Amino acid sequence: MGDLSQAREWLAQASSVAALTGAGISAESGVPTFRGAGGLWKNYKPEELATPDAFARDPRLVWEWYDSRRQLIAKAQPNAAHRALVEMEKRKPRFTLITQNVDGLHDLAGSGKILKLHGDIWRMLCTQCGANFPNRRVPLPKIPPHCACGGMARPGVVWFGEPLPEGMMKEAEHAVAAAQVFLVIGTSAVVYPAAGLIPFAKQAGAKVIEINLEETAYTATADCALHGAAGDWLPQLV
Ligand code: OAD
Repeated sequence: MGDLSQAREWLAQASSVAALTGAGISAESGVPTFRGAGGLWKNYKPEELATPDAFARDPRLVWEWYDSRRQLIAKAQPNAAHRALVEMEKRKPRFTLITQNVDGLHDLAGSGKILKLHGDIWRMLCTQCGANFPNRRVPLPKIPPHCACGGMARPGVVWFGEPLPEGMMKEAEHAVAAAQVFLVIGTSAVVYPAAGLIPFAKQAGAKVIEINLEETAYTATADCALHGAAGDWLPQLV
């Protein structure tokens, strides 16, 4: 089911395209994924690091983990796959980039509007006054970091058990419903509601093109599944 020429044709003809990206698109930039070979959740427990309870229990531990990830991500550069999506955005009258990634590499590559379903590791939220502010310092000079109001800050990401940023899923669904082609890139498609966009796209009549090193639960229903690295396939598609 890896017909590149068919996928290229669908894309060439589409005026409205949406893309959902996951950690796999940043793997070639040196950012570890969560699942699969070398995935973060093999060595760390999400319930100890990526839930509101974990943060309430031990904010220092959670921040130390986020600080180490920020240090690693700060050294990463966007790769050919991130850049191909920037190119696609330029060419299509309507293009919506939906990402589960918090690493900021789509921003760095130059993508315009990005629906960051799981937030942004380069932002912080104040647990006291609710401010949402950017912070790119690595390493953090003080853990846990604080807001200007004196309140403790938390990472600006969505944790397990938390709702997505208000209205964002609706906006993503709106874009997917209007898309003739839906690209699903480097995601294991097991975390919801993000993964639910894939059957949603099918139902709405989009051609679903999946790019992944491995099979996922949605590979069988994809209209085209390209097996391999996003940095190889995406430039060829665009
Ligand atoms: P995962 O780590 O679950 O999945 C990464 C996917 O990328 C796997 O299916 C790999 O096969 C694939 N992959 C790896 N390298 C690739 C490459 N070079 N090219 C193409 N595909 C490649 O990451 P996500 O699906 O993004 O959430 O995970 C979803 C969410 O779970 C994350 O946003 C995070 C995590 O827990 C939160 O932190 C809330």
